Amino acid sequence: MPPVIQTREIADYVGQEVIIRGWVYNRTHKGKLAFLLVRDGYGFVQCVAFKGEIDPELFETIAHIPQESSVLVTGTVRADRRAPGLPGGFELGITGFEVVQAVVGEYPISLKEHGVDFLADHRHLWIRVPSQWAILRVRSTIISAIREWLDNNGFTLMDTPILTPAACEGTTTLFGTEYFDEGTAYLAQSGQLYNEANIFAFSKVYCFGPTFRAEKSKTRRHLIEFWMVEPEMAFCDLDGLMEIEEQFISHIVQRVLRDCRNELLSLGRDLSVLEQIVAPFPRISYDDALAKLTEIRAETDDPELKERLNIQWGDDFGSPHETELTKLFEKPVFVYGYPTGAKAFYMEPWPGRPDVSKSVDLLAPEGYGEITGGSERISDPDLLLERIREHELPEDAFRWYIDLRRYGSVPHSGFGLGVERTVAWICGIDHIRETIPYPRLINRVYP
Ligand code: 4AD
Ligand code: MG
Repeated sequence: MPPVIQTREIADYVGQEVIIRGWVYNRTHKGKLAFLLVRDGYGFVQCVAFKGEIDPELFETIAHIPQESSVLVTGTVRADRRAPGLPGGFELGITGFEVVQAVVGEYPISLKEHGVDFLADHRHLWIRVPSQWAILRVRSTIISAIREWLDNNGFTLMDTPILTPAACEGTTTLFGTEYFDEGTAYLAQSGQLYNEANIFAFSKVYCFGPTFRAEKSKTRRHLIEFWMVEPEMAFCDLDGLMEIEEQFISHIVQRVLRDCRNELLSLGRDLSVLEQIVAPFPRISYDDALAKLTEIRAETDDPELKERLNIQWGDDFGSPHETELTKLFEKPVFVYGYPTGAKAFYMEPWPGRPDVSKSVDLLAPEGYGEITGGSERISDPDLLLERIREHELPEDAFRWYIDLRRYGSVPHSGFGLGVERTVAWICGIDHIRETIPYPRLINRVYP
């Protein structure tokens, strides 16, 4: 019996007979030749049957095998630069063929163009096509790179709860659920507050899990359920935070370039753009960013852009502002020092400027915008309590959080990176819905 191989290792088997277990993605026909594009979960490979060379009945089976039938293909590996596939450049000269299941009837996602709603309704099948397969492979590699960097740099993994008694990022986007006799519990918006407790035991920690936000926004950047990694560090100020973030992001991008070249190329991604993503990253204050935006607004002849860029000191940046800002830089850019009023309750004020916070967002280039949000945290117990009251948060639910400022308080900082926005940027795709296997959007919980 020839060995069963994975298509990604096909280059090691040139000249040998192998078996590939998979599914027929596409089938074409040219005179005495039948071509199959077979996918096996690791890639896509062209398999060719020549009429004169195999049993005529087998040839007929191959020439008529329906799309997405499951098959075992035996064949000899040949290098051929023209052969399509992923990675491509190799093909299998078919010597044997076994059908595991022949698809009956028409496969819903035929190889013509389909509308996005139709594809989203068939997400369970859509993930089989090369573009979606490549994006989700990149996603998996990004997550692996995230864990690798944190695990190798002194961070301890702490799993924070998903059912929580209070808000972290503001009360407007909470999902509530009945919790026995304890009242309402909320799905976690962030694990940050718990990580602030964890650093006093472990110094550097991260949590990594699903996050829930009942965001009313229907944009290309918002999901209702998304994955966020949140590192938190004791004895770390805003500058230290930015240094860690730029090392971390550079590592993720370089690892994807190393391990997912073919996937990125198949998505049409310009690799040279990603190759530049190495620390250090540029930094600009909110005030300077606002001045740049005011300049851009004054100079543009586009009335729509003028309208969209309309902003006052004190407002948070929206995606139009972020998009314009990122066009000024080739690398991700840190925007720091946002107005206190535009950000969460827990951020440390700027020394001598209480209306400004020691906050920082990292904006990804090419118009992608915010991929991380972070800050130095308030370390003084009295100020923290004052902020909790100002924001009308339930004091009782925050008792434990205030405790942290009583027992060995230190300057500390952390950030959250949204996995899906990072995938969209690295893959160079338009919409966040393709960056997670089963997206949850304001108007979609199926499939
Ligand atoms: O800026 P955010 O809201 O920050 C926090 O939650 C902090 N507690 C993190 C921390 O300091 N530990 O969210 C962080 C990141 C954003 O930069 C964005 O990448 C992503 O999470 N994000 C979303 N991604 C997809 N859909 C949404 N609705 C998102 N909201 C935030
Ligand atoms: Mg944010």
